[in-house]
Amino acid sequence: MVSVAIMGHGVVGSGVAEILTTHKKKLFAGLGEEIYIKKILDLREFPDSPLADRFTKDFDDILNDREIRVVAEVMGGVNPAYDFVKKCLKSGKSVVTSNKELVAAKGAELLDIAKENNVNFLFEASVGGGIPIIRPMSQCLIANNVDEVAGILNGTTNFILTKMITDGMQFDDALKLAQDLGFAERNPAADIEGHDACRKICILASLAYGKHVYPDAVHTEGITKITLDDVKYAETFGCVIKLIGRVKKLEDGKIDIIVAPMLVPKESQLANIDYEFNGIMVRGDCTGDVVFYGKGAGKLPTASAVVADIVDCCKHLKTRKYLYWTDGDSKNILPVEESVNAMYVRAKGADIAAKAEKIFGGVSIIDKADSADNETAFVTSEITLGEFNEKIAALVNEGAEILSTIRIGDL
Ligand code: HSE
Repeated sequence: MVSVAIMGHGVVGSGVAEILTTHKKKLFAGLGEEIYIKKILDLREFPDSPLADRFTKDFDDILNDREIRVVAEVMGGVNPAYDFVKKCLKSGKSVVTSNKELVAAKGAELLDIAKENNVNFLFEASVGGGIPIIRPMSQCLIANNVDEVAGILNGTTNFILTKMITDGMQFDDALKLAQDLGFAERNPAADIEGHDACRKICILASLAYGKHVYPDAVHTEGITKITLDDVKYAETFGCVIKLIGRVKKLEDGKIDIIVAPMLVPKESQLANIDYEFNGIMVRGDCTGDVVFYGKGAGKLPTASAVVADIVDCCKHLKTRKYLYWTDGDSKNILPVEESVNAMYVRAKGADIAAKAEKIFGGVSIIDKADSADNETAFVTSEITLGEFNEKIAALVNEGAEILSTIRIGDL
């Protein structure tokens, strides 16, 4: 029998306890030992839980219990999770976590501490919910140089955009529904402003390129400015709007990393990933494109990945899994002004098409049957963001009001 503890009994934590209980026989068959939940840390009371006798409000009850070999951290947020995880690793306990904020902020340091203490620090659930992605990238695809990773990494925003596209639902109503369904972060700003997707692409970039990429070094845009008009113009242009996290390795060794809404061509593998589903494309130099798809948010999908890590830790109590990257800085990240994309622009004013043609040269006008008076949408050819911003300023000088600008994803 291996004793484990769970820190946090929210959406994911209660799912972990549930799976460990309901799938006890299945897990025993896989591991050859019973996984026993010895303690659950939460400040709230759960008198009706079948595990009510295991709850504690005191972290030291877990830290000082030498029988507990594996701890699942599913509290979310950096503090106090960081302190608790560090202490567990230093005391010789393996830790698994679904906490992307923690891994994106402190991953390199926690991986080092795990290495020094000959224990494991695993975080499959931190990216893609129930989709296997960390283990495939760190093991199955290890022989590849990764040229690019691109994906829909946030279930809440994908749910909102899908509802806007398929049902014509307004942004706020779709967000409320995503919150009610339990997909959203405690503060949904992290979802809709792109920070959650940013943390996830940082984790994947760190894993792919072996150096920690910190979220504050990554240009991040959310979906709050996307309107139903943009959705309809995108449709006319043969695209859907998706929040994309993407990192590419450049020839000079730098990485081009971004989180932003993009117009994704309907024929792209990422275009048909809808609702709370996530999709992640990994482009390996040996494999070509490998695409991972599944539920990226929700109680049991995410808990499934946490439990898989618990089982892995229980199987490797005396050996370390190879999952590691070193600390990094922003020097190897391409400045966003130098990143290159074709751009969608929606603007208001007289003669926008002619002015855009003169300033940008060779734009494609999107002819939508019910366009508002005086409004024009067009797509530029590929251009650096720096040059694009200069040309947009010139268009404004010519009397245009810019209503929205969105990247075209070459996905
Ligand atoms: N809020 C996150 C999402 C939860 O919507 O994807 C899973 O990380």
